[in-house]
Amino acid sequence: MIKVAFYDTKAYDIPSFEYYGKLNDIQFKFLETKLNENTAALAKECDVVCVFVNDNVNSDVIQNLYDNGIKLIALRSAGYNNVDVRAAFGKIHVVHVPAYSPYSVAEHAMALLLTSVRRIHKAYNRTRDFNFSLNGLTGFDLHGKTVGIIGTGKIGTIFANICKGLGMNALAYDKFPANNSNINYVSLDNIFKDSDIISLHCPLTDETRHLINKNAIDKMKKGVVIVNTSRGGLIDAEALLQGIKDRIIGAACLDVYEEEADIFFEDRSGHILNDEILSRLISMPNVIVTSHQAFLTEEALNNIAETTVNNIKSYFTNNGICDNELCYRCGKIEQCKKERKKKCF
Ligand code: NAI
Repeated sequence: MIKVAFYDTKAYDIPSFEYYGKLNDIQFKFLETKLNENTAALAKECDVVCVFVNDNVNSDVIQNLYDNGIKLIALRSAGYNNVDVRAAFGKIHVVHVPAYSPYSVAEHAMALLLTSVRRIHKAYNRTRDFNFSLNGLTGFDLHGKTVGIIGTGKIGTIFANICKGLGMNALAYDKFPANNSNINYVSLDNIFKDSDIISLHCPLTDETRHLINKNAIDKMKKGVVIVNTSRGGLIDAEALLQGIKDRIIGAACLDVYEEEADIFFEDRSGHILNDEILSRLISMPNVIVTSHQAFLTEEALNNIAETTVNNIKSYFTNNGICDNELCYRCGKIEQCKKERKKKCF
C-alpha cells in the first residue's frame, strides 16, 4: 500500500482521489493544511506528498520531506512555480499533471471576458433585486476586436480558437512559437500596442514575473481588458490598479492574484481582508475576481485524480520512471525526453 499525504484538501478533491486510489492500492491521508515548513512533518510515515498550487514546496520543506523519507512530490496541477525543482534534484522526484482539461481554463477565461464586457455580473445582481433598469450596462461587441494572447500552449491555443469563433482578430506572442500553426505571431510590444483584450496563458517564471507592469501598461490601448487565468505573479497588481485608476485599463478579469496563497480557496467573508491592493481591485466596478477557479470542472477533477494516481503508481512500479516527471538536470524541466536513464536522476 502506497501512502500519500494529501495537502490542502478541499471537499471536491476527495471523491475522485478516493476512487482512483482504491483501484490502485494507494491510501490518501487527507490534510486540510497547506504544505510549508511547519506542516512538512505531517507527511512522516508516508511515501508521497500530493500538493496543489498554493503549497509552498521550497528548499527547506524539501529537505524536511527528504529527511522524513518522502520519495515523490506529486503535483496535482500543471504549473509548478511553487516547487523548488532545483532543490529537489538528487533528493526527491517531482511529477505533475501536464494537462487535465485545457478547455476548462480557456472556457473560464472566455466566461470572465464575456461577463465583463456584457456586464452580466451587474445584471445578475440587479434582476435578483427586481431592478430591471439597463442604465450603465452598455457593453461592446467582441466580434471584430483584437485579442492579444501571451502563451500559445495548450490553453492559449484553445482560447485563440474560441476567440476566432467569435469573429475576433487573434494576435499572439510566445517565446517558443508553434511551428506550422495558423497563429498570427507578433512581438510582445505589438501585443501591448494593438490589443483590445490581452489574455495571459504563459507560465510564471523569472522571465515572465510582472510581464504586465507599468512599462507595459503605458504602451496599451486606452480601455484594454486584461484577462489573467494563468498565474498572479505575471501581473504587477499595484501597476494594474494604477492603470485602472488612470483609465487606461478598461477592465480586468482575474482568476489568479500574486498574493493569493493565504487568501484564495477559503471562505473569508466576515473577516477583514489584510490586502489593500486586492480589496481595492475587488471594489472596482470594472474588475471581476474569481478564486483560482478556472480549472474547476468535473472533467478536470476526474482527469487530475486519474493522472496523479497513475503518476504515483508508475513511479513505484516502474523503477522510479514516470513520463510526467519534471526534470531539473538538463534545465528543460517539462520538455526533457529523459533519454539517459528515463528519469531525471
Ligand atoms: P503550456 O505549457 O501548454 O503552454 C505555455 C506556453 O507558454 C508555451 O507555449 C510556452 O512556450 C509559453 N511560454 C513559456 N515562456 C514564455 C515566455 N517567457 N513568454 C511567452 N510565452 C512563454 O501550458 P498550459 O497548459 O497552456 O497552461 C498555461 C498556464 O495556465 C500554466 O502555466 C498555469 O500557470 C496556468 N493554469 C491555470 C489554471 C487555473 O485554474 N487558473 C489551471 C491550469 C493552468
